[in-house]
Amino acid sequence: MRVGLLTGGGDCPGLNAVIRAVVRKGEMEYGDELIGFLDAWDGVMDRRIMPLDVRSMRGMLPKGGTLLGTRRGSPYDRPDGLESVVATFHDVGLDALIVVGGNGSLTVAHNLFRDLGLPIVGVPKTIDNDVVGTDTTFGFNTAVQTATDAIDRLHTTAESHDRVMVVEVMGRDSGWLATHAGIAGGATVILIPEQPFDIDEVCTILRARHQRGRYASIVVVAEGAEPVEGTMPSQEKVYDLFGHVRRRGVADRLAPEIEGRTGFETRVVLLGHIQRGGTPSAFDRVLATRYGLAAIDAVHASAWGQMAVLRGDDVMLMPMAETADKTRAVDLSLYRNVASVFFG
Ligand code: F6P
Repeated sequence: MRVGLLTGGGDCPGLNAVIRAVVRKGEMEYGDELIGFLDAWDGVMDRRIMPLDVRSMRGMLPKGGTLLGTRRGSPYDRPDGLESVVATFHDVGLDALIVVGGNGSLTVAHNLFRDLGLPIVGVPKTIDNDVVGTDTTFGFNTAVQTATDAIDRLHTTAESHDRVMVVEVMGRDSGWLATHAGIAGGATVILIPEQPFDIDEVCTILRARHQRGRYASIVVVAEGAEPVEGTMPSQEKVYDLFGHVRRRGVADRLAPEIEGRTGFETRVVLLGHIQRGGTPSAFDRVLATRYGLAAIDAVHASAWGQMAVLRGDDVMLMPMAETADKTRAVDLSLYRNVASVFFG
């Protein structure tokens, strides 16, 4: 078969491990011809192609980012988008397309399968871990470790200066990364999009901690966390090129409120794209590899419209329809029964 592959949305560690696994099994076991599309859907529409073979996969397993490049945006955003995708399938003689993406790309993949009947299979990725239907996405484990390492370092400087450090982590719509890195890093408070925060409560927690003689605190805040309405000045909405709200900046609003209300010296740290970069953890390499193998097997089973997911220890298939247009929220019992036990 001639099988295409694209990586879409924000990059994350482990994308190259998926590509390598697809190419390895596709070429060696199925005798496939593998083709990479550059820069996600742009490469499909504009027919920008890279041949992929086992030789060219050398050294890719531990490499962060994606050798195919990635972009946001979709064929549905371009007047000739759908037409161009169909033409590419036809002209390139594509028998299948594997889409490695987060919520946005998997929704587009599902829609193309539903609307045009294209032979597409999905693989979930994102450091946000917010894809419905899978226990975890690859990229998340690495990002949690990166954020935790940063928090560990911030503890020592915060303690030396008796400061509050407000650490903003990624997570536009969900607080998985904040919750896990906050628990792992011993955060004083964790703020997530799923649970609007009350600045008074945050300050009460910090004051109580200082009264107990702990003069340094780490507040971990997901970029999408929002104050309870009316409790803090509202933020002006900024959009990216694709119309997504750019959430970055909640820490900058939070820090002066904390300093002003408590009198504790406060600093802001934005971890930003550092969380997406670098080499994948062993866990993510294994998961990405398993997803890649499951995806090429799905292609040969003609399991169109399906995606690889992790359930317990098993990688299996699930219809992309079940994840399209959804976001997987943090398990609030983890937040309430584990994370918040250590607040203060
Ligand atoms: O989707 C993953 C993610 O890392 C989000 O956590 C974050 O809000 C967004 O991407 C940032 O996107 P960009 O790379 O376009 O700035």
